[in-house]
Amino acid sequence: MPGLRVEVLEETASTNAVLTERAKASAPEWTVVVTEHQTRGRGRLDRTWETPARSALTFSVLLRPTVPAARWPWLPLLTGYAVTKALVADGYAAGVKWPNDVLIRTGEQERKVCGILVERVETPDGPAAVVGIGLNVAMTAEELPVETATSLAIAKGTQPDRTGVLLLLLGTLVEAYETWQLGGDPAAERLRASYSESCVTVGRRVRADLPGGAVLEGEAVRVDETGRLVVRTSDGESAVGAGDVVHVRAR
Ligand code: BTN
Repeated sequence: MPGLRVEVLEETASTNAVLTERAKASAPEWTVVVTEHQTRGRGRLDRTWETPARSALTFSVLLRPTVPAARWPWLPLLTGYAVTKALVADGYAAGVKWPNDVLIRTGEQERKVCGILVERVETPDGPAAVVGIGLNVAMTAEELPVETATSLAIAKGTQPDRTGVLLLLLGTLVEAYETWQLGGDPAAERLRASYSESCVTVGRRVRADLPGGAVLEGEAVRVDETGRLVVRTSDGESAVGAGDVVHVRAR
């Protein structure tokens, strides 16, 4: 287990922004910045991520991967897988929507409980990854930003302990990352298999809004070696590496 250095801030605009500064100032791998209240959180695709004080786990983890650059696109997926694994171990019906939104299933509904934003940062010590995780923990239905979201408290009907959940998440992240980082090709292939098993997008009909405005609709058939989602349409198979993917039909 690596030494984690955890810094807790009462309030900050974005833990990813703070940790980016720490990374540029040579902070070591596994530096973690947590905040009780994030006021201008960054989301994927230039969105924002805001949560009321103490209602969510908002934190960022600094990694300095040494795997070949071609493997870096797996980091967001690895993180989504690690969060899903922790939540499943804690009794939630969690799954990951490609690439890295974590959803919780209640009956027919699947709602987003966690968003992840991984940013690559150039530092004097080489490229680093700032892994930002926002998990809705204590939020009430009224506090949710959109109808398609949920929180652990809503899913379970009781208030989870945020520190306990943080430690659980960090544990699965350390395990998944160290195995992937040190295990070469076999570990990369095992991650692909484990990710695919916990990915609720594979096997579903999806619509992918691609960068540049094109739209692709078809069946998500697998995740390829580079972490792209392979979508089968009437024109054949296309691999989607970026953009927004929507599940268009319930399971
Ligand atoms: C998404 O759009 O789904 C990703 C949201 C990521 C939010 C987290 S909260 C902690 C970290 N700091 C940020 O500014 N963003 C990430």
